[in-house]
Amino acid sequence: MNIKISVIGAGNVGGLTAMRLAEAGLGDIVLVDKVPGLAKAKALDLEDASAVLKYNYNIQGTEDVKEIKDSDIVVITAGLARKPGMSREELLNKNAEILKEICLKIKELAPQSILIVVTNPLDLMTHLALKITHFKPQKVFGMGVSLDAARFANLISQKLNIPQDNIDTTVLGSHGEGMLPLPRFTKIKGVSLDEFLDDKEVEALISKTINRGAEIVSLFGSGSAYFAPSLAITAIIKAILKDEKRTVGVCAYLNGEYGIKDVCIGVPCRIGKQGIEQIIELELNSEEKAAFLKSAESVRKNLSWITT
Ligand code: NAI
Ligand code: 2OP
Repeated sequence: MNIKISVIGAGNVGGLTAMRLAEAGLGDIVLVDKVPGLAKAKALDLEDASAVLKYNYNIQGTEDVKEIKDSDIVVITAGLARKPGMSREELLNKNAEILKEICLKIKELAPQSILIVVTNPLDLMTHLALKITHFKPQKVFGMGVSLDAARFANLISQKLNIPQDNIDTTVLGSHGEGMLPLPRFTKIKGVSLDEFLDDKEVEALISKTINRGAEIVSLFGSGSAYFAPSLAITAIIKAILKDEKRTVGVCAYLNGEYGIKDVCIGVPCRIGKQGIEQIIELELNSEEKAAFLKSAESVRKNLSWITT
């Protein structure tokens, strides 16, 4: 039987993810959106693209979430973006309602699937998905810090005029203001970033990385990034399906790792066919550890906002 990947939410991130998955030949794709016609329109357009590519893939677009039945992987990109006048708490509760409804369907229709959460606020939505599905934590995780690590790498590459493939960045923490790009664990051909730049320059790159998502939002005026996010999702799915056992930063459920319990937050993990196969515990110094604990505490504090 073919691999089946469902993408829920056929907006900017979901539609582009479906395209990348199809072009990478990673499996049959089901694209779902509640807006009538949207997912089907994108799927038909992507079918036509296959004729230009001279490369066959199967893609279906639908409003009916039942079509995700027996998926191997489900990606959740469904959600609302923050509108003018809407508080963060309101957005959180609205997206939590959407997530809750979708996760109950996933639990019923695709109980063996690996679930990748993308909807923001990422760390909270990942936690919610885990609690609602009751899937094993290794099978429910979020895409966030791998995107942040890519942004950090891009900014370093530009600053130092060094090719991207020489740079290996590490970002921990929440996908938001509490993210922690880690210069000590960011290497350029094995040499740590702080050997290349002074503290002030490193701080400037960290701050640009943290603000990158917001910078893109403010340029768009409405909506957020989707080219790099869809690639980051596709890279995680490839790591699962090809059983790469590659280390990727994902939002994972911590149960004592790093001294943190019952919080989903970004950490480096080995990703393979079982999903998260290992959570990597970096040897943080006291300053890094304090910042990471602070990031985890702010996620924990916001968890109480979610009405489940
Ligand atoms: P978008 O607005 O273009 O698409 C969202 C889609 O979800 C819409 O088409 C909407 O109709 C659909 N939707 C809403 N409720 C649904 C339901 N119950 N069932 C099926 N579909 C439903 O938004 P975009 O740009 O695609 O972003 C999606 C989400 O991903 C947002 O929450 C955004 O903040 C987040 N995001 C997260 C990133 C990350 O790194 N974790 C990166 C980029 C975006
Ligand atoms: C980003 O970082 C909005 O989470 C999204 O671009």
